[in-house]
Amino acid sequence: MTDSLDKIVSLCKRRGFVYPGSEIYGGLSNSWDYGPLGVELKNNIKKLWWSRFVHRRDDIVGLDAALIMNPKVWEASGHLSNFSDPLSECVKCHMRFRMNESSQISNSQFPISKQNPNSKKETKCPNCGGKFDDPKQFNLMLKTFLGPVESSENIVYFRPETAQAMFVDFKNVLDTTRKTIPFGIAQIGKAFRNEITPGNFIFRTREFEQMEIEYFIKKENWQESFEHWRKEMLLWMEAIGLDLKHIHELEIPAAERAHYSRRTIDFEFDFPFGRKELYGLAYRGDFDLRNHFKEPPYREVVTEFYPHVIEPTWGVDRTFLAVLSSAYDDSDKSRTVLKLKPQLAPYKAAVFPLSANKPDLVSKARDIYLQLKAKSYQLNPVFDDRGNVGKRYYSQDEIGTPFCITVDYQTLEDETVTVRDRDTTKQDRVKISDLGSYLADKISK
Ligand code: GAP
Repeated sequence: MTDSLDKIVSLCKRRGFVYPGSEIYGGLSNSWDYGPLGVELKNNIKKLWWSRFVHRRDDIVGLDAALIMNPKVWEASGHLSNFSDPLSECVKCHMRFRMNESSQISNSQFPISKQNPNSKKETKCPNCGGKFDDPKQFNLMLKTFLGPVESSENIVYFRPETAQAMFVDFKNVLDTTRKTIPFGIAQIGKAFRNEITPGNFIFRTREFEQMEIEYFIKKENWQESFEHWRKEMLLWMEAIGLDLKHIHELEIPAAERAHYSRRTIDFEFDFPFGRKELYGLAYRGDFDLRNHFKEPPYREVVTEFYPHVIEPTWGVDRTFLAVLSSAYDDSDKSRTVLKLKPQLAPYKAAVFPLSANKPDLVSKARDIYLQLKAKSYQLNPVFDDRGNVGKRYYSQDEIGTPFCITVDYQTLEDETVTVRDRDTTKQDRVKISDLGSYLADKISK
């Protein structure tokens, strides 16, 4: 675990996890691109989530809905009227800030007053010490026009959460699957918010990704289901390698909850820049289905009652950041190690020839690498013959590769290789024919 965001940002840039967006044009503030290793880690997080919550359960189905929806969706969901933050401008330097209810700078997430008790409160402009004007409500919905005419009838919004499509498609899902209440719909996808104060690397951006479940239940079962999802979320955090001593549950008081919520818990994490929201769990009651399926003929066809909803929600980018800061270990002065769970590692194995200028070893190592690549699409092995073996270990440790396979002279005699464990640095001698099952067994743990 590290408490240095600089170390994470630097590793991400240096090794191809995350780059500043549009860099060669001077960048675009708070936009980030996931590089070759970053996209692997991010996809592994999403795959693990999908397999855990969709494929391994028989009460949840998936959805991949359009990102831009009819604006009436956002009217019914309350986002056009309620999804706003108070914004104030410094009268002296004209910098703009997001304020909380007592006109102090807020550094937390919507809704405005979910404040971390440790966060710093300021009433003067941190840039120049000037005074603020009165806060104005600023809607966070990101607007654009659909079609060639930029008129008010053509205004549409990028979705600020993936959730709404799962309510709007509720009846379609009910009609086309054999699901009955209780059941859930899951979705992974981009969301957009015109945040006033994005920052802290990929923690708060205007374009980000969510993994959300809308779980439909009978009203009387909400507490039981809420508790079920609270536990599931904690198990997920453990599964991705977060230490639960760095997770803090924050019960959000009624006055501070989002407009749709009857109960919310935030799961906060000790990020390198302080304790901040990682995930949320909300009881949305029947707010959304009641608003979307208000009028006949839809009202009659929903079900005989409006199901209630428990919503566990996960930010993908915040997961990525929490996973990286948890896994980062430079306590051993001789190396930096990303102690990623093997399932999340961009490469599960690296294959080396002991020496790059021995053609027999190189060709044998390449054969093994290609065999592993063909055998298992989950392994995503990498071949490396640069520098010496020590440097290659160092380089693979830094990107979290859990196993390094070395082809040496003994390999040419007895068809065995050494497999080095990233965390212990211990080596096993393994038959090439057993490599697939050896790695599969280790990775599944
Ligand atoms: N559907 C409910 C919902 O969207 P939220 O608490 O506003 O609730 C859910 O967002 C999660 O999405 C957060 O817990 C966080 O992980 C992530 N998230 C929200 N805003 C974000 C932003 N601007 N940048 C990155 N992640 C964000």
